[in-house]
Amino acid sequence: MSFVLVRVGAAVLYEAGRGYNDDLVILKSFALSQTQSYPAWRSRWVFILAATGSAVGLGNIWKFPYITGENGGGAFVLVYLLCILLLGIPVMVAEVMLGRRGCQSPVNAMRQLTRDAGLHGFWNSIGWLGVVAGLIILSYYSVIAGWALAYIPEMGKGTFQGAGPLESQIFFDALLADKERLLGWQSLFMVLTVGVVACGVVKGLGVAVRILMPLLFLLLLAMLVFAYRQGDFAGAAEFLFRFDFSALTGRSVLEALGHSFFTLSLGMGAIMAYGAYMPATASIGKTVVTVALLDTLVALMAGMAIFPIVFAHSGINPAAGPELLFVSLPVAFGAMPGGLALGMVFFILVSIAAWSSAISLIEPAVAWLIESRGFNRFSANILLGFVAWALGFGTILSFNDWAGLTLGGFTFFGAMDFLTSRILLPLTGLFIAIFVGWIMPQLAVKDELNGNNSLIYPFWLWVLRYICPPAIGVVLLVGLYDTFAPVG
Ligand code: PHE
Repeated sequence: MSFVLVRVGAAVLYEAGRGYNDDLVILKSFALSQTQSYPAWRSRWVFILAATGSAVGLGNIWKFPYITGENGGGAFVLVYLLCILLLGIPVMVAEVMLGRRGCQSPVNAMRQLTRDAGLHGFWNSIGWLGVVAGLIILSYYSVIAGWALAYIPEMGKGTFQGAGPLESQIFFDALLADKERLLGWQSLFMVLTVGVVACGVVKGLGVAVRILMPLLFLLLLAMLVFAYRQGDFAGAAEFLFRFDFSALTGRSVLEALGHSFFTLSLGMGAIMAYGAYMPATASIGKTVVTVALLDTLVALMAGMAIFPIVFAHSGINPAAGPELLFVSLPVAFGAMPGGLALGMVFFILVSIAAWSSAISLIEPAVAWLIESRGFNRFSANILLGFVAWALGFGTILSFNDWAGLTLGGFTFFGAMDFLTSRILLPLTGLFIAIFVGWIMPQLAVKDELNGNNSLIYPFWLWVLRYICPPAIGVVLLVGLYDTFAPVG
């Protein structure tokens, strides 16, 4: 049986240990949600692997190295780490808490929490915005992940053997110009994603992350060892960890803030949906800190795997931007002994990271269709996979036929990326911080987080109330300003 009812059993223990008689509202909501047989992961570790799988993705291996390069290195890394600590972790705790408390898909979890506490239905938008953002992100995420898939056989075939930057650029441009090829790889990626999610929470997601995440760490470790032996490791360490504040601008700070959300998969319901499958006895705070640490570790490891190779081949600019991974790095692979095999390993790693994130992008919407619209897991996946796949055409075309077609300075892909990472994720994150910090009954929050026994709880609540909303608000406002008055 794939849907284990561990949760119900665990919840009883949990209830016995805590005492809910303080607040009838809480009791009611708890009882309601616990009578449903909801899928649950057997242990805290499966949650950690799944949430880390969601968090570690193209954001860590593709985006983090290139935005660090663009923003001058060390000082940006420091700001990014602060953002994870002061913003990412507190909001993640809030999001997991909402998911576990509501114990349903994000849309219904929010409905239940607001209904039980007699709160305004406006807050249900936290669930809805997440579903929409997830499908939009998946539409372009699958295209970029398709590039990584496309590079695996090319590396193996030796396409980049001895290639210079120009040849590498020509190859990449030719790939982007070829709609059918892009569509083929994007479709393959989508089938892989939908395939896992269709197998269920326990047998699909749970099993996949238990295999993929250790594999990802192993591959990354192999890359690191190689970079250490063949690349300019000291140069890369200096670049990533020497804090040169002169390179830091206000925009870099905003970029770091926005990225801390994207990289931890916040503000989109993925973490909330996974929170609903978290064992009721596990500590949310400790679990979230573990996930955030692992995510940060992977981003730094990716940087320390990529930059030594880039630096060892002079002539490659660390600030190459989005093309760092697909143009600069293959040149470096093609120029070093054993580089082609390593290149294959590297793009397999990128694909795995993207895969374990993509499954979390579709899960909130799938869970909602199953709960509320009478779908089964298979049909829900086919429908949503199709929607994201079709929306992905826009991103594919924005690299060729529609490349000249811009709206407010954005191509279709640029607009989707901006809409999600600079508007929708921060907006939902802001709502989550306000809802949990100020609106939701504090007894319920404290109870779910076991706040009575925690020294950190008051500090967490303070940060969530006073630091997160203004900081996220600024990112959002500047994002909106950029939309209507694009700079550059
Ligand atoms: N965190 C993922 C990454 O870094 C992207 C993602 C965002 C996944 C939002 C799920 C939800 O690539």
